[in-house]
Amino acid sequence: MKETKGAKITIGDNTFHLPILESTEGPNVIDIRKLYAETGHFTFDPGFTSTASCESSITFIDGIEGQLLYRGYSIEELANKSNFLEVSYLLLYGNLPNQEELDDFTGRITRHTMLHEQMTNFFRGFRRDAHPMAIICGVQGAMSSFYHDSVDISDSWQREVASVRMIAKLPTIVAWAYKYSQGQPFIYPQNSLDYSSNFLRMCFAVPAEEYEVNPILSEAMDRIFILHADHEQNASTSTVRLASSSGANPFACIAAGIACLWGPAHGGANEACLQMLRQIQTVDRIPEFIKRAKDNQDPFRLMGFGHRVYKNFDPRSSVMKESADEVLNLLGIENNPTLQVAKELERIALEDEYFIEKKLYPNVDFYSGIILDAMGFPTSMFTPIFALARTVGWISQWKEMISHPDNKIGRPRQLYLGSGYRPFKPLNQR
Ligand code: SDX
Repeated sequence: MKETKGAKITIGDNTFHLPILESTEGPNVIDIRKLYAETGHFTFDPGFTSTASCESSITFIDGIEGQLLYRGYSIEELANKSNFLEVSYLLLYGNLPNQEELDDFTGRITRHTMLHEQMTNFFRGFRRDAHPMAIICGVQGAMSSFYHDSVDISDSWQREVASVRMIAKLPTIVAWAYKYSQGQPFIYPQNSLDYSSNFLRMCFAVPAEEYEVNPILSEAMDRIFILHADHEQNASTSTVRLASSSGANPFACIAAGIACLWGPAHGGANEACLQMLRQIQTVDRIPEFIKRAKDNQDPFRLMGFGHRVYKNFDPRSSVMKESADEVLNLLGIENNPTLQVAKELERIALEDEYFIEKKLYPNVDFYSGIILDAMGFPTSMFTPIFALARTVGWISQWKEMISHPDNKIGRPRQLYLGSGYRPFKPLNQR
């Protein structure tokens, strides 16, 4: 990492020099690691709008250009030319695999897709109408109680085994959470199927009859996984990094990431977005909702719109929109009313001064729900599918952090506005 001449900060009569560290892509950073020791001041940045929490070589987003790179490869090319396990290898190990590497990785993932049979009891402890995110969060965390041979993060072999186990088992956990909510028996993984086909079969097959995976749907599923795989230091990835910084085991850290992703401002937006599109129902009601979204007094927001980083279009949304058109056409439901409302809502919003001025564009969650709905998933399954895909990103970021020589526990400070010392007052004097 190159250091340039640096920045100067003047506080009172004192001037301090802070080094500037150069990135290979995107903004450089002002290195403030010694700021408090030298100036007695903290920086203040709630929501981390101007803060780089770490150095990373995995994913890069250019929010102005609408660019998303996984290890330097564009999301558009990966979504159209690669597949999820190949992209997972790329995120985990830094380069696209050759045939031998891909076969070995695919084989390792395939042979770890089953859960310990006793874990089925965890599902049965939940109410049938439990939100699947509650179930996958619980079952994921419980994995650390079954796989003791891969919780020691100081052992690179155990880190590798834990990584493969989670990438392999999340589809089974997510599919079984769905089956449990439907009152249907669990369908076990089939090693003869590819990753996405295996997931769809575990979700939609029943023991009573043969189930053929529709290749249109497995291809769409695989593309959705690729689009959601990683995204720099988003809220859930930062949660995984912070949890991991204490040395917690990887299964618990990924469970923390799942919990954070659940929120409607983050991964929960895809579920909230489809509910919003259904609430709008018809194109003629769109202006009423646009008006509400623009009213600062109204907490309503256009779900699936806006992004902390993308201030132009979200490239994932563009790919997802093409995929929605293609899948619904191939399924013969191109006149899906929800898709029509979504397209008209996007058109109107992108011409509206408010959205233009605030640089609000559809994000990854705007169209994903329409495809998942067309595939037969209930809205409650949208965020679990996001979590399934993002697991490889969380793990890639976790591995990068754990193996960094300067890895230390994350411990932010604060701007304290509370009371200074005051002596305790006995009850009869209050
Ligand atoms: C994901 O970080 C990531 O990379 C996340 C993600 C990933 O892959 O990990 O990309 C996945 O989480 C995508 C985002 C999904 N969330 C939603 O679609 C929920 C709706 N969007 C908003 O809640 C919001 O846009 C956020 C949370 C996504 C971004 O919030 P910011 O960057 O903190 O922006 P903000 O909330 O401060 O908004 C800036 C302004 C505000 O107006 P003012 O206070 O300046 O007057 O824009 C307005 C907001 O009121 N605004 C919206 C809006 N989003 C922002 N107004 C109406 N509708 C919206 N959707």
